[in-house]
Amino acid sequence: MHKQLLRTKKILDHSDSGLKKCLTAFDLALLGIGCAIGTGIFVLTGIAAATQSGPAVVLSFIFAGIASGFAALSYAELAASVGGSGSAYGYSYVAFGEFAAWVMGWILLLEYGVGAAAVANGWAGYFVNTLANFNLYLPETLTKAPMMGGLINLPAFAIIWVLTILLMIGVKESARFNNIIVLIKLCTIAIFIVIASMHLNTDNWHPFMPFGWFSTLENGKNVGVLAGASLVFFAYFGFDAVSTAAEEAKNPQRDLPIGLLASLIFCTLVYIVVSGLLTGVVSYTELNVPSPVAFALSKIGHTWSSTLVSTGVLAGLITVLLVLLYGLTRILFAMSRDGLISPIFSKINPDRQTPTRIILMCGFIVSLVAGFIPLGELAETVNIGTLASFVMVCVGVIVLRIRQPNLKRPFKNPWNPLIPVLGILSCGALMTFLPAITWFRFFIWILIGVVVYFTYSIHHSKLKS
Ligand code: ALA
Repeated sequence: MHKQLLRTKKILDHSDSGLKKCLTAFDLALLGIGCAIGTGIFVLTGIAAATQSGPAVVLSFIFAGIASGFAALSYAELAASVGGSGSAYGYSYVAFGEFAAWVMGWILLLEYGVGAAAVANGWAGYFVNTLANFNLYLPETLTKAPMMGGLINLPAFAIIWVLTILLMIGVKESARFNNIIVLIKLCTIAIFIVIASMHLNTDNWHPFMPFGWFSTLENGKNVGVLAGASLVFFAYFGFDAVSTAAEEAKNPQRDLPIGLLASLIFCTLVYIVVSGLLTGVVSYTELNVPSPVAFALSKIGHTWSSTLVSTGVLAGLITVLLVLLYGLTRILFAMSRDGLISPIFSKINPDRQTPTRIILMCGFIVSLVAGFIPLGELAETVNIGTLASFVMVCVGVIVLRIRQPNLKRPFKNPWNPLIPVLGILSCGALMTFLPAITWFRFFIWILIGVVVYFTYSIHHSKLKS
């Protein structure tokens, strides 16, 4: 027990990290909203409605939101009591020890890295479409990955570099930029909500649940409201990035729980309204398109607002990318500082007060993945990683209450252990609705991580003693 407490103290003792403490609760909530509202609601809603849930995609969002809610409450307890910039990685370290923390960090790298590359691909699609609206065309070979018959997806590659440079300039500048674009994104959503409400045709909500609750087709594809929930769960991924900013928060113990819960509640309400309206103005059968929200507006004759909304979505996806890259760099920073990956990545640039090396490395790798690999189908891989990390955070809450009952907990879940147990059950259930191929990819990734741990990390760890 004494060893446990010492380890906790070491992990909490990051006052010399050199990161600027400049983010408020408002900044943190916008950070969560900036990352969460993106490809999930603007693109996957259409796919899920047309192929898995029908108009009952609203229910899919509600189920995914409830599971995320239990996880958010667990995150809030750990973010307030354990803190640190490593998010679920840091909490796992304190609750379970080094190996589990490494696996958690490894999963988070997959989530954030693949998530950023996937969203960059989505952004590139909207970018090419928007250019086309103004009669500007890029050569096709520069807009597609090699596997799709092109050379490189240049817009996806380039947008990652633009944001990498922004992050290197410094967190305050990035957070301010994030706040402005989140407001633009919210205005975009407001425009859609106002116009769509005036064209609502409730006949479109019948049949409400054309694919039932859950079934697996012969081709291995899962359909039904629950399968839809495991896909649109992608829309909730990102609010937990709030917890990776703990060391840059002015008052983390108060602001982190507020930031986490406020962003999740807000996003859930937006998703319910937008997905309900989307399937209410157009038949769900028509929504399997790259830009369903813009498509629906064109369909009801609002061409100008469709273009406006597309532009807003472009801006919105930039903030998603920004927060994902930000989270990725901070998780790597924490892992490097603990010796599990090379220490050259935890050096802070004294002028900018940001870990510039890590940011550069992340930008380099993610831009290559985004430019050369078509990642659309990997949304589910991101989801399995996120759900696994949510489950681990919930288990962490229970374990820490037993192992370290006296740890100071500024935010405490009521009726312990009800909330984390519900989180484990609901997130675990969503994982089982994902296809077999996703599970396969996930296990391969974990296997690689285990090999890296036993060949490098275990010999260089600083906290083990
Ligand atoms: N939740 C983010 C999105 O929907 C990752 O794009």
